Amino acid sequence: MEKKRIAVITGANSGIGKEFAFLLANDRSIDEIWAIAQDEDRLIKLHDSIGDKVRTFSMDLTDRNNISLLERLIVDEDADIPYLINCAGFAKFGDYSAISRQTTVNMIDLNVSALVALTLICIPFMPRGAHIINMASQAAFQPVPYQNVYSATKAFVLSYTRALNVELKDKRICATAVCPGWMNTRLIERATTNARKTITKFPFIVEPYVVARKALNDARKNKDMSVYGIVIKLAHISSKLLPHKLLMKLWLIIQGIC
Ligand SMILES: NC(=O)c1ccc[n+]([C@@H]2O[C@H](COP(=O)([O-])OP(=O)(O)OC[C@H]3O[C@@H](n4cnc5c(N)ncnc54)[C@H](OP(=O)(O)O)[C@@H]3O)[C@@H](O)[C@H]2O)c1
Repeated sequence: MEKKRIAVITGANSGIGKEFAFLLANDRSIDEIWAIAQDEDRLIKLHDSIGDKVRTFSMDLTDRNNISLLERLIVDEDADIPYLINCAGFAKFGDYSAISRQTTVNMIDLNVSALVALTLICIPFMPRGAHIINMASQAAFQPVPYQNVYSATKAFVLSYTRALNVELKDKRICATAVCPGWMNTRLIERATTNARKTITKFPFIVEPYVVARKALNDARKNKDMSVYGIVIKLAHISSKLLPHKLLMKLWLIIQGIC
């Protein structure tokens, strides 16, 4: 008997995670979508929009007990996982002293630790041709003052995903890091703080749908990185050619921070 095919999506009740869920809802090769996030009402809305193909899991992924619970559920289900899409993440804008230590460390717990843990849990269930799609960011390309930990977590995700992709070649599993610029999602409003020096400008912002669609296409072409839009592609090239000190200065000028 053929195994059930499950797409696991974290952060699936909002922003780009929700867009991935809608895109995979139309994929007939997927039997179920496991949508993981905290806010139950938003998860229910997702279920109402897509239907029974979605199974929702309301949990805080920074809690290691929940990661263990997910591991048990995945092991018990013993299904194929053709897609793992790690979108759960958050940012905080402002200088280091404006963000509590707990929030700062929590950001690493979600953006890095939970993403790695879920990846390691899912790999044994991934068939040949499966995809891991990890949300990094343009912020991964260089150090970014006033979102220092956030950009560092995204640099981790980019580096981790590309190296893992090489290690997974033998298994014919592809890992893709998605590196968008600003997207019009709830992340920005949730990241905003009262810090005196902070990020307030979001140039070249795009809708998450276009980024998700390109990311899925790039993943299916077995690319290890997905970069949407000419501006972000130029930013990527600049980060390889120009000194990061200069790029950080430019960033402060764009943000009007001196
Ligand atoms: N928006 C941008 O400009 C931008 C740019 C580059 C990269 N990204 C990355 O894209 C990814 C998705 O963000 P988004 O822009 O789509 O923002 P979003 O709409 O705020 O989505 C974030 C998702 O993460 C979930 N989440 C947050 N904390 C969680 C926790 N502790 N446990 C479980 N789930 C949690 C949220 O669900 P709940 O609210 O229910 O917890 C939500 O579904 C993130 O990794 C972000 O860093 C965003």
